[in-house]
Amino acid sequence: MSRPATILITGSSGQVGFELQRALVLHGRLICPDRSQFDLSQPATLTAALDAWQPDIIVNPAAYTAVDRAEDEPALAHAINAESVAAMARWAAANKALLVHYSTDYVFDGSKDDAWREDDAANPQSVYGLSKWLGEQAIRDSGCRHFILRSSWVAGVYGQNFLKTMLRLAASRDRLAVVADQFGAPTPASLLADVSANLVARCQADAGQPYGTYHVVAQGRTSWHEYACFVIALARDAGWPLALAGAPRAIASRDYPQKAVRPANSQLDCSKLMHTFDLNLPPWQDAVRQLFQTIDDARKP
Ligand SMILES: NC(=O)c1ccc[n+]([C@@H]2O[C@H](COP(=O)([O-])OP(=O)(O)OC[C@H]3O[C@@H](n4cnc5c(N)ncnc54)[C@H](OP(=O)(O)O)[C@@H]3O)[C@@H](O)[C@H]2O)c1
Repeated sequence: MSRPATILITGSSGQVGFELQRALVLHGRLICPDRSQFDLSQPATLTAALDAWQPDIIVNPAAYTAVDRAEDEPALAHAINAESVAAMARWAAANKALLVHYSTDYVFDGSKDDAWREDDAANPQSVYGLSKWLGEQAIRDSGCRHFILRSSWVAGVYGQNFLKTMLRLAASRDRLAVVADQFGAPTPASLLADVSANLVARCQADAGQPYGTYHVVAQGRTSWHEYACFVIALARDAGWPLALAGAPRAIASRDYPQKAVRPANSQLDCSKLMHTFDLNLPPWQDAVRQLFQTIDDARKP
């Protein structure tokens, strides 16, 4: 009988990392270091830890994800999102390990009218977007077996995200304004973790997989405003006491200035993933309804 795979999960305290621990538990022996044991801001220290742990699979949801703060901390964002990713990719290539990595709609400039495909030209407009793009490129350059899963608008039960912010604000404020001219699709962290586990299982059954870059988001298209209205309606229907009487007000991006530029169109075309692996991705409304249900269940006594 072959030994169980050793799977290193970085960023296990994050939204996706938390879900990955659940999704990957049947696939091997999990190593889930915190940042004191595996600090991505110190890329030069990572190889020694990898040599000690000898993972067969590295799953890397850890990232510098503070999009606006990254504009003031480009060196730190670069170290975590690009240099450390390069170090892990080099190690994976030299040790024949599989690397599963996560990237973002922010690698695109948002100017396209329809959904972005994997091979569309990247043109990041923010420090965060550029650092994630350089991380992707380092993986490709390393020659390691890899999956880069690009996603958008990720939300989980644990951690901070737009959905939970909207629930908190609707509970405490009688007025709320939300940007209505940026489009994309929310993606549950659990969905991203389940897709990752599916790909890992395929690689464990047969190492000759179509590796590469894939888009993974819930299906359909919405705006932040429509998404907020949807979530707040779910909360109202579930009997949450809300300070907000009606729906949030729709505003333009220019009326909500933020430090980092956001893509106007974040929609990612997932047909490559769905056709290659015969996977079905849920409509964003179903995905958000399920996520809300989990959050609602968790607050019931
Ligand atoms: N959130 C989104 O909307 C979104 C959209 C598209 C793509 N993505 C990508 O999806 C992936 C997962 O995102 P997420 O939402 O799960 O992120 P998250 O909730 O912000 O979690 C980030 C994780 O990275 C860890 N981390 C940060 N700095 C670190 C360091 N120096 N050393 C080690 N670990 C460090 C954090 O640890 P601590 O708990 O110690 O801080 C945390 O566990 C990321 O690659 C992100 O770029 C996210």
